[in-house]
Order: sequence, then C-alpha cells, then structure tokens
Amino acid sequence: MEIIKTLNRMSAWAKAQEKSAKQISLVPTMGSFHEGHLRLMRRAAELADLVVVSLFVNPIQFGPAEDLTSYPRNMERDAALAREEGVAVLFAPDQEAMYPDPPLTRVVVSGLSAGLCGLTRPGHFDGVCTVVAKLFNIVRPAAAVFGEKDYQQLAVIRRMAMDLNWNIDIVAHPIVRDDDGLALSSRNRYLSPDERQSAPALFKAIKVARKMVRGGIIDADRLLAEVETIINMHDNIEIEYLSIIDCENLQVKTRIDKRSLLAMAVRIGGTRLIDNAMLFEETEGA
Ligand code: PAJ
Repeated sequence: MEIIKTLNRMSAWAKAQEKSAKQISLVPTMGSFHEGHLRLMRRAAELADLVVVSLFVNPIQFGPAEDLTSYPRNMERDAALAREEGVAVLFAPDQEAMYPDPPLTRVVVSGLSAGLCGLTRPGHFDGVCTVVAKLFNIVRPAAAVFGEKDYQQLAVIRRMAMDLNWNIDIVAHPIVRDDDGLALSSRNRYLSPDERQSAPALFKAIKVARKMVRGGIIDADRLLAEVETIINMHDNIEIEYLSIIDCENLQVKTRIDKRSLLAMAVRIGGTRLIDNAMLFEETEGA
C-alpha cells in the first residue's frame, strides 16, 4: 500500500491507472478506523480494480464549537488496518496540502442540506461537499462508497454527483453496528461507561418503531412519541432531533410508507450521536 500525502502525486497516480484502464473506487474518511470503515473498504474492493481510501480530518465541515482539535487521530494504526484490507493507496494529505489558501469556493447542495443535521450544524454539508468534490477531482474514481449511518450526507453527495454530472457510482453501505445495536462511530470512544450503557437506546427505539409499523401503526407522530419516550428513559441523553422523513427528498412525512426513514441525533454528555433506519425493513439492521 502506498501512502500519498500530496495532491500532485495522488493525481498523477490516478491518471496512470486511467491510462492502463484500471478503475478506482474511493472511500472518503476522516480516519480513526472502526469496523464500519473497513466494511466500506471491502465493498469498494468489489466495485473496481484498485481501492483508494482518503484520510483527511476536514476542518471546513466542523463548526467553531465542534471537536476538530480533539477528533481522534491515529495514522499508524489506520495505515496498518487499510493495508490489511488490501487498499492500494491511503491518500492522507495534511491541511496545508488540501487547502494551501483558505478556499473561497463552496459546493452547496441547497434544500437537502437544510434540515436534520443541517439545522444544528450550519455550513457542515457545504464543507463535506466541497472536500468530497475535491477528492472526486483528484482521485477520479469510477465508484465511491458512503455509509448509510450518515444518511443525510449520502443523500446530499448523491445529489451533488447528479447535479454536477460526475460519472461516479455513489454506492451506499448499510450501517455497521456493535453487538448491542449501537452504530459504530469514531466518536463512540468519547462515551463514559455510563453513557455507553445508555447509547443502545437509539437502536432499541428504532426496533420498537419498526415493530409498531409491522403492527399497522402508520401515524408518524404516534411513532415519534414512542421513540421519544424510550430515549427519554435515559437521563443522560438529550434529543437534538427525531424525524420521520422520505428517504429520497428528506421531506417530513406524517404517514408511514415504504420510503419512510426514522432519523435521529442525540447528545450523550458531550458526544453527539446519530442513527437512522428505514421503518418498513424486515431486517433489524446490518
Ligand atoms: P467519517 O465519519 O470518517 O466516515 C467515513 C465513512 O464511513 C462515511 O461514509 C460514513 O457514513 C461511514 N461510516 C461511519 N460509521 C459507519 C457505520 N457504523 N456503518 C457504516 N458506515 C459508516 O463521513 C465522513 O467521515 C466525512 O464527512 C467525509 C465523507 C470523509 C468528508 O470529510
């Protein structure tokens, strides 16, 4: 596995693969790999000849009060894990390489970026789209893999790729969960033992909502009230939002149908966690 730190070298490598008719799949990440990231890499390997994983903690997607400086970083461990997955290139530019000058350009996907996480994280998706657009241009992948855990991010990037005519297959990977249902996240390591015990409440609430839907309850407010009650049983969890939305246009739904997604963000102590699930799915999550 090659570790590439400059944009010029990454571009040159990508162009060389194009010349020899090799296709690239890209997995954009901010590092601190867990099993969720590794599964995305395995999926990427099925999609093209060579996998490029980018590792860049993108400052322009963090708000001023967010965890940019404390975001977990462990380059050596990440490189070893990516190598074990058979990744061809770990593209790990530093801030100076990625943004030699403060960027004046932002890629904004309006509408889809506004609600849900966009409400409490203004500018977040503009930062995500801008860095992913740069990565697409530098790496020139045929496919890119994103996790459904960040469902709104996936929807926004799909739309960006469509609107800007990137010929890149945007591939979704299901949420990878711990045994007790907590969605894996680099931020889970911030949780104290008590907080970690409360955290599976999100998935418990999802399971109850799905059961209610199977039982014929299709009124969104009734489901949300039940989800809220389950989560509020834990004093250390503060709900940021609970929403039932359409899985494509992310608009709020009042009645459940096959396209309804339950999405939530909470704070447990200082840690912000998100989760989501389609309400009609038979399986209980990946
Ligand atoms: P990061 O949080 O490192 O996540 C990288 C990718 O892993 C994203 O597509 C995310 O959805 C996916 N992922 C994380 N946890 C997952 C889980 N439990 N199951 C499935 N997929 C999971 O998301 C970002 O980085 C950044 O915003 C980025 C797209 C790299 C732009 O900076």
